[in-house]
Parts: sequence; C-alpha cells; structure tokens
Amino acid sequence: MCGAEVMQFHSPLCVALDFPDAPSVRRIAAATAPYAGVLRIGLTTVYGTGARMVGELSAQRPVFLDAKLHDIPAQVEGAVTAIAAMGPRFVTVHAAGGYDMVKAASSAAGASLTVLAVTVLTSLDDAELEHLGFAGSTEDTVVRLAERALEAGASGLVCSPLEVAALRSRFGPRDRGGPLLVVPGIRPRTWSSDDQKRTLDARATLDAGADLLVIGRPITASPDPATAAADLLEELS
Ligand code: C5P
Repeated sequence: MCGAEVMQFHSPLCVALDFPDAPSVRRIAAATAPYAGVLRIGLTTVYGTGARMVGELSAQRPVFLDAKLHDIPAQVEGAVTAIAAMGPRFVTVHAAGGYDMVKAASSAAGASLTVLAVTVLTSLDDAELEHLGFAGSTEDTVVRLAERALEAGASGLVCSPLEVAALRSRFGPRDRGGPLLVVPGIRPRTWSSDDQKRTLDARATLDAGADLLVIGRPITASPDPATAAADLLEELS
C-alpha cells in the first residue's frame, strides 16, 4: 500500500517546514512545490500555527505530520484518530513507545494514514545513547526498535541515513514487502550538520535504499530555498 503511495509523489524530497508562523510555512511550501513531493510539519509548526495547518497543507500536497507520539496506547489511539480526520498522509510515533502503543496507532490510522515509527533520533550519537543506557551499537538499537514496531503494524520507519542499508538488509527491499524508509539527517557536503549527528548526503542515502528524504534547513535556511530544493532534486536524478 505504501509503495503505491510513494510512487505517486513527483519527487522523493520531503521538505521540513519548521517555522512557528503560518506565512513562512506557506512561503516555503509554495517555493518548493515543483521540487518537493511531500510537506513535513512537526512540533514547531503545529504548536506555533495551530493544528489546522495540517488540513490546509493536506489540501495542497501529501503531508507528513511528524507528531512523534509517545504516550500510553489509549492516548496515542485518541491522537491518531483525531489526526486521521485532518487528512495527512503520514504520522509518526516513537518506536520506543512499545508494541501496544504502535499497535494502537496502526489500528486507529485507518486506510488513508500511514504510521511511521521513529527509531532513534538523528540528533543522537553513540555516546549519548550509551549515557541513556542503551546497550550495543546504534545500528543494533535501530534494528531492534524497527523489528518491534513493524511487528506491531507500523508500515514504515524513520531512521538516519547511516542505518538505511542495515534496515534494507534486515527487512528487504520495498518491492518485496520491505518497509517504507523515511530519512532525515540529510546534509549536502557544503552544509553544516547543525544539531544532527548521524548524517549523509542525499544521493548516497537514496542509493542505500531510502524512499523519502526529509530535508529542512539546507533548503529552508538557504538564501534561495527554491534553488536549494532544485539542486537537491537534480543531485538525485
Ligand atoms: O533541518 P533538518 O534537515 O535537520 O530537519 C530534519 C527534520 O527531520 C526536522 O524537522 C526533524 O524534526 C525531523 N526528524 C529528524 N530526526 C528524526 C525524525 C525526524 O531530524 N529521527
């Protein structure tokens, strides 16, 4: 089901519209329309502009609502039910919320909303994960969280570019039933990593088996967002 959805998008670029004000969100959404197949909004935009921005953008293009839900199953079920009515194409929950929580989200999503499980934030590195008490490598942690989330009914995963190959090798390619892989932490070689730790460039990430590349500041903080998005798309063709 998700494979067909991704194929409909005119580009594998998903622009992250992380602005607290509606005019900036609308401006970058319009500027990147020819280049970005999906619009991502998350906490900054939803809390800054109000949840009705989800419906406004969904009327224009497929929306990835990066809600990053992580609560008891009943709360997540309620939130996903409300979100489904707003019309986004994708919603995220944290895989670390556990089997019952991801299952509650997947059951509440219905046919038109795809649940993606966030494995390990791209802003965390091995040292921080060790501080937090995770044993083993980051890659092992990502694969373990992914396994559980997929068992619970998630249709796709959010991971860093550095784990795409491992997830493809563990779960298989899309055309043989593998999960949708949505990947932030993309950095052109000429752009700083900002607060991201596990990064790679767009071409290498797509070649490793990613389906959608979530890119924010290298487009939105560029002096010319439309050209930045066009250049990224060109790199992928
Ligand atoms: O500006 P930048 O390209 O770093 O934006 C990446 C986007 O992807 C942000 O909106 C961030 O919230 C989101 N994201 C992430 N890491 C995850 C999941 C989502 O960076 N694991």
